[in-house]
Amino acid sequence: MDMHVADLKKDFLEVFGVEADQTFFSPGRINLIGEHTDYNGGHVFPAAISLGTYGAAKKRTDQLLRFYSANFADKGIIEVELEHLVFDKEDHWANYPKGVLHFLKEAGHIIDQGMDVYVYGNLPNGSGLSSSASLELLIGVMAEHLFGLEVERLDLVKIGKLTENQFIGVNSGIMDQFAIGMGADERAIYLDTNTLAYELVPLDLKDKVIVIMNTNKRRELADSKYNERRAECEEAVVELRAALDIQTLGELDAQTFDEYSYLIKDDNRLKRARHAVLENQRTLQAQQALQAGDLERFGRLMNASHVSLEYDYEVTGLELDTLVHAAWAQKGVLGARMTGAGFGGCAIALVERACVEDFIEAVGQSYTATVGYEPSFYMAEIAGGTRIFHE
Ligand code: GLA
Repeated sequence: MDMHVADLKKDFLEVFGVEADQTFFSPGRINLIGEHTDYNGGHVFPAAISLGTYGAAKKRTDQLLRFYSANFADKGIIEVELEHLVFDKEDHWANYPKGVLHFLKEAGHIIDQGMDVYVYGNLPNGSGLSSSASLELLIGVMAEHLFGLEVERLDLVKIGKLTENQFIGVNSGIMDQFAIGMGADERAIYLDTNTLAYELVPLDLKDKVIVIMNTNKRRELADSKYNERRAECEEAVVELRAALDIQTLGELDAQTFDEYSYLIKDDNRLKRARHAVLENQRTLQAQQALQAGDLERFGRLMNASHVSLEYDYEVTGLELDTLVHAAWAQKGVLGARMTGAGFGGCAIALVERACVEDFIEAVGQSYTATVGYEPSFYMAEIAGGTRIFHE
């Protein structure tokens, strides 16, 4: 459901009994290619989308923070003291805002009054479209405006990542917060996660569109498996360092990796490292293909990315594989792959606009026949980063 400013203000008034000061919107993201490369010092190629998290807020005169999410209405209003911003399982989703405000204060920003905060998100939770990073940036930008903070956007991005890593305990990279904080209309973000140098690349898809396909399987075990993959890659770097002067797998080209891969003493670690190195190379090639307008090649690189995530990185599973393989079999499809962390969540496909209706019908049937429940489909609109929401 799309939100309007008036709805948001009305909902805020109903929950808190006062008028909101300001309304905000923070997008979700898809990743075109460059998966599980961000914590390996490689490149990523995400884009912010028009689905995301809406928020309304009002500054209070006391030290109380009150949070309400229409997505977790059963939790009611969660109250937190501004002076007590520590992780507490009981506070459920409000730990994300708590983390962001904690790290803002820690960085020296003055937040000396409480707020009432209302949020509503139309990103399906656990779908791999970064609902948590969307919320983190929403709260960061809210605090920036309500308290008149002088804060660089990149610092809000880093605070979102810190929240994820040190408050919530997921060892994620910077891709999601970066895409959401820095997104721009019709642009994908080509980011070197090692240097944070980036480029906003026009996403000229001609007569093609990106279809987001949701497995409707939540990303179970995603966090523990995610941290495990990250550790495997770090161990592989330690082994390669016996002969190579590197800090991350992202520094290696395919040939150098191949020559030195004998140093990796375990099958799984070899596969994980091979994915990280080759996926980074594919991302460089995909950026070139897009610049050159070669969408066919871009699509093939998406397919190769999925194959590597399926067989080498092993983060797909029956649901994502069924969806992506069904997509590959359809007319008018240039490429398809899982997007995000994997283990459920969403995939994306690059499809000829004229074929989209048949595509959705056929992929939906094929998936339901194998998995036993239906997938969902959304058309991806590439939109701007976290901002004040006017209408
Ligand atoms: C999650 C993480 C990102 C990134 C992707 C995989 O979305 O939050 O940092 O590692 O998985 O590419």
